[in-house]
Amino acid sequence: MKEMVPSPPAVVRNETAEIQALFQQYVVPSYGRFDLVLSHGSGSQVWDTGGRRYLDFGGGIAVCALGHASAAITETLIEQSRKLVHTSNFYYHGPQGRLAQALVNLIGPGKCFFCNSGVEANEGLFKLARKFGHDEGRFEIITTINSFHGRTLAAIAATGQEKVKKGFEPAVPGFRQVPYNDLAATRSAISPATAAILVEGIQGEGGVTPATPEYLLGLRQLCDEKKLLLLMDGVQCGHFRTGRFQSHQRILENVPGGEKFLPDGISMAKSLGGGFPMGAFWVRQPYADLLGAGSHGTTFGGSPLACAVALKILSVIQQEKLADNARETGAYIKAALEEMARQHPRVIQAVRGLGFMVGMTLAPDIPAFSGEGKTPAVRFTNLLHAAGLLAVPAGTNIIRVLPALNLRRSEADEGLKIIGGVVEKLSA
Ligand SMILES: Cc1ncc(COP(=O)(O)O)c(C=O)c1O
Repeated sequence: MKEMVPSPPAVVRNETAEIQALFQQYVVPSYGRFDLVLSHGSGSQVWDTGGRRYLDFGGGIAVCALGHASAAITETLIEQSRKLVHTSNFYYHGPQGRLAQALVNLIGPGKCFFCNSGVEANEGLFKLARKFGHDEGRFEIITTINSFHGRTLAAIAATGQEKVKKGFEPAVPGFRQVPYNDLAATRSAISPATAAILVEGIQGEGGVTPATPEYLLGLRQLCDEKKLLLLMDGVQCGHFRTGRFQSHQRILENVPGGEKFLPDGISMAKSLGGGFPMGAFWVRQPYADLLGAGSHGTTFGGSPLACAVALKILSVIQQEKLADNARETGAYIKAALEEMARQHPRVIQAVRGLGFMVGMTLAPDIPAFSGEGKTPAVRFTNLLHAAGLLAVPAGTNIIRVLPALNLRRSEADEGLKIIGGVVEKLSA
């Protein structure tokens, strides 16, 4: 396949101020944005409108599975769009059927529903849980503190972070949060109205905290005992980011009883479409037909175009052994950051994560970050930008590394050098 890497424009026009002014005037200001205006990319590199190059360790928040301007994605979009872009879900078409089969083969016996985003995938799981508990009057879903499940009204009620709920009360009823990785607290939160438990395999926005194997196995047992659905949000931590398709498969590797573990539902999005907006959820076999004809739907979900892209991404991941790359290069990055933390404990307090989902907790009281102003995570990210690296802040003091699955070892080294330089300056 011919590489379709865009070359930087011959004359780089600095449109920065003009574009920012358009945003100020015409775009709802619901996002805190960094002072960067991006223009084009290639793999794990992006350029701003001033022609400056950045290495991308953020991957569009775990979305750009094959990096920017992937030739495989571009060619699939062209090829499929010449045949069939959209049909509506009144009709059958090949790409949706084949993608559902591929996801089931990667997870376990069950069926899939296709939608357009992570929050929509979670909304589908909420409806599945309500349908499951409906005839017994059960509707409550237990979720966890520090979780993140998206921005719709139901998803902010499910999310365990006050900042996303504030100002949007009254909350959608039927959600309650308990501490993550805490089986005893989960057990005591179960009421006669509980229908399901929903957890992330690795909390992402909450600061890259993996579930322990005991927690996952214990949740399965608890759900079986109490007749609850065990639902997992794999939106950020799924799609081979950990080195296995879903994070539970990685977390439970070589753990006795782990090979038999399956949740009852999993939400997916982000890397599934590699930047083409798409989401999905998988439902385990006994519950796969709970959402019958007419019970759920979405106009754009599972279009031929979206599914063709998702299928192509899966085949590239397999051909290029990108799951192994995420596992190995991710471990390499994590080990290097841990070494940095040992050398500069006054800047980096802890490093967590699996594969290409690594979080670095900044130490409290970094002198350069004292006083009023942005959070340490945002200030650190600004320093990375100034040094030529994109990364993603989480919470007030965590920096996430969520790169494309095809990040090269040399690029990992380049990014680590940039982080090292910033850390050294802060510890001086
Ligand atoms: C774990 C998790 N769930 C759900 C979502 C929501 O996904 P989306 O923004 O595609 O709606 C996100 C987004 O960051 C996420 O990290």
